[in-house]
Amino acid sequence: MKNILLLGSGGREHAIAWKIAQSPRLRKLYIAPGNPGMAELGELVNLDMMDFPAVADFALKTKIDIIVVGPEVPLVEGIADYFNDQPALQHITVIGPGKQGAMLEGSKDFAKDFMKRHGIPTAAYRTFDGTHIQEGLDYLKTQKAPYVLKADGLCAGKGVLIIDNLPEAQEKFKEMLEGMFGNASASVVVEEFLSGIECSVFVITDGAGHYQILPEAKDYKRIGEHDKGLNTGGMGSVSPVKFATPEWMSKVEERIIKPTVGGLLADGIEYKGFIFFGLINVEGNPYVIEYNCRMGDPETETVMPRLKSDLVDLLEGVAEKNLQEKTVEFDERAAVNVMLVSGGYPEAYKKGYPITGCEQITDSIVFHSGTTMKEGKLVTAGGRVISVTSYGKDKDEALAKSMQGARKILYQDKYYRRDIGQDL
Ligand code: AMP
Ligand code: GLY
Repeated sequence: MKNILLLGSGGREHAIAWKIAQSPRLRKLYIAPGNPGMAELGELVNLDMMDFPAVADFALKTKIDIIVVGPEVPLVEGIADYFNDQPALQHITVIGPGKQGAMLEGSKDFAKDFMKRHGIPTAAYRTFDGTHIQEGLDYLKTQKAPYVLKADGLCAGKGVLIIDNLPEAQEKFKEMLEGMFGNASASVVVEEFLSGIECSVFVITDGAGHYQILPEAKDYKRIGEHDKGLNTGGMGSVSPVKFATPEWMSKVEERIIKPTVGGLLADGIEYKGFIFFGLINVEGNPYVIEYNCRMGDPETETVMPRLKSDLVDLLEGVAEKNLQEKTVEFDERAAVNVMLVSGGYPEAYKKGYPITGCEQITDSIVFHSGTTMKEGKLVTAGGRVISVTSYGKDKDEALAKSMQGARKILYQDKYYRRDIGQDL
């Protein structure tokens, strides 16, 4: 039996909490800081996850066995190292890599170099810093449109520019190096454009070369239907993904997952936790667009519902470095998640509107993203507010159910996409 502390407060963490709470292997779940939707799944604790000594104090006091880190920032800042480096904390397993492993997400240049070193298929690239501006401008001239420019560091999903013409690409390249994304764009990766459909694949690994593959999912990043308009944190997700056939997934495993897990081991990086492979399918062949060192949001809101196996059992497999002995079963049904957002998002929007109707949803799962309690009432507190995941015999049935749920949840200026999964 395990005591588990989950760090985070969004829909991804709500979905992870929902799954952990179903486990017979769980003694007690604490969630810091969590959100109102998670209150029935565990005890919410007011802890700042970036205050590592405070997290450690709490974990010792409550006899935590496993800490699941939801978002990337504490990982990139070294929360796992903080626990692994201190004898008094080493008995606590942190699900999430140390600083070095988190560089797969924290530095695009590190990730590209890692892939090159280990022969993992990805777009051709070069990296430039402020001392090589002219070389970068010349390199862009040798490339074809569209031009892909990526800030090296963490940018909360905003650091990638895709530009159609050379003069603008050169202009933006210079602006990036001159601090468009602060220090995060002190180096810029210039990458070949790959054309295809994207798919997110998730693996859990134990730091000893063993891994298990979780259900795949596709997320929908644009605000508008048919993928029009501005990028968002994610407007919904679907699992399974039609083109991720057993044959395609075996290419992913052989060409990408095995060399990644093996490469980490070979490079002396003990990586415990989730690896998120952002893949693109180019004429039947998978390429890596990006790595993340955590689960995806809103992919997790369909991945966890489709994971039949006990998540805590898998987390114990990480702690005991025997993940190869575990099995992962998928739910045969399709799952579709529809994200309800605040009108105006991803630009300016208002918060604090009362939310009603959640209790009328009995046939779907409701995951909270940006909600809070104000004077005893549930109110909106973010751009992405709340989402609905449903099962169906196929994605169309699952979408229809999630749409019904989305209509029942009421708040001012509600907006959601009605086409999640429809492009597949
Ligand atoms: P990233 O932050 O690396 O995931 O990039 C954000 C988005 O930009 C991805 O989800 C893709 O849609 C797109 N993108 C990134 N790199 C490429 C590329 N080399 N070719 C085509 N699209 C890309
Ligand atoms: N859904 C993409 C991400 O979590 O980064």
